[in-house]
Amino acid sequence: MRKTLAAALGIEVSLLQSGMGGVAGTELACAVSDAGAAGCLGGYKLVGEGMSAALARLTEGTDRPVGVNLIPEVVGPEELDRQVAQVLDETPGRVYLSFFGMPDDAVFDRVNAAGRKIVVQVGTVEDGVRAAGHGSVVVAQGTEAGGHLLGEGGRDALVTALREELPEACIVAAGGIGSPDQAARALSAGADGVLLGTAFVVADESRAHSYFKGAVVTADGTDTVISDVYEIGWPGRRHRVLETSATRDPKQARKFIGRTEVEGQRYLIPRFSAAAPTEATSGRIEEMAMYCGLSCDTISGGRPAADIVADFARILQSVEIFESGTG
Ligand SMILES: Cc1cc2nc3c(=O)[nH]c(=O)nc-3n(C[C@H](O)[C@H](O)[C@H](O)COP(=O)(O)O)c2cc1C
Repeated sequence: MRKTLAAALGIEVSLLQSGMGGVAGTELACAVSDAGAAGCLGGYKLVGEGMSAALARLTEGTDRPVGVNLIPEVVGPEELDRQVAQVLDETPGRVYLSFFGMPDDAVFDRVNAAGRKIVVQVGTVEDGVRAAGHGSVVVAQGTEAGGHLLGEGGRDALVTALREELPEACIVAAGGIGSPDQAARALSAGADGVLLGTAFVVADESRAHSYFKGAVVTADGTDTVISDVYEIGWPGRRHRVLETSATRDPKQARKFIGRTEVEGQRYLIPRFSAAAPTEATSGRIEEMAMYCGLSCDTISGGRPAADIVADFARILQSVEIFESGTG
């Protein structure tokens, strides 16, 4: 039977917070989960002691279902195996795995065998059908989305096409959702819940740099571009970002423009790095990769993550109607 996202994940509000490398730390993930939706830690390149420290804070910080987001194409199959093993070994069963793009079948099998829930973000019908075949919640990402883009088309068309192929699957809409009205549109296209990224960048608990948060609040969609310039560390995939001097002039020298720290490790940031600026980043923030969706049109200011969840909760309750009989 078709399930709401809330029913599929054992949460109260059919809302996913996107795992966002560097930006979605444990404070944001736990705050969103405590508010009744599903928070998610951006796992990105974390592994070993850094991953263990973050997982410990995540599971101590909330006793609700919460996720860890991993990106198969960024780390490659061996590192992904290590990351998955750490999540399975070091966290309780309420921690779900979220993937940006498709992992190998063996990864699905391993996570399913461990009894964990899986959420996979896709940009095509083909990938969505494969992910659903492994029992995953399928996040349909349209090109309205902030961050890296998995497909070529708009959100609602992808949701509708997936719903036709997968009448029973749990399908979540992502990309360009910054207000309850936009969430309602995605639900009428056939979604069972929504995923928000940019809307949570500006949350009080987000680790995004204050300059980045301010830029998202003042931007509208015309200030964003789909580009491929921020490729150091994550090559070969287009991304929607705020327009900067780097997107305008991709021929500039690849020199270091800042530094940052992730779980106690220090890194230099070259111009065109894929790393988003966080509260631990210094340097020329205004040139860095500020991922931002068309959703910025309706995002007006920073506030606690729980308030963002509460804003969407009422409209997302209407999904229950599909489940309880009419749909
Ligand atoms: C700052 C930022 C960082 C992101 N990083 C990730 C990531 O690490 N993993 C991931 O699965 N998706 C990531 N995304 C993409 C989101 O999952 C999602 O597709 C997007 O945020 C949805 O569109 P919206 O930003 O308009 O809500 C990121 C998005 C943003 C805005």
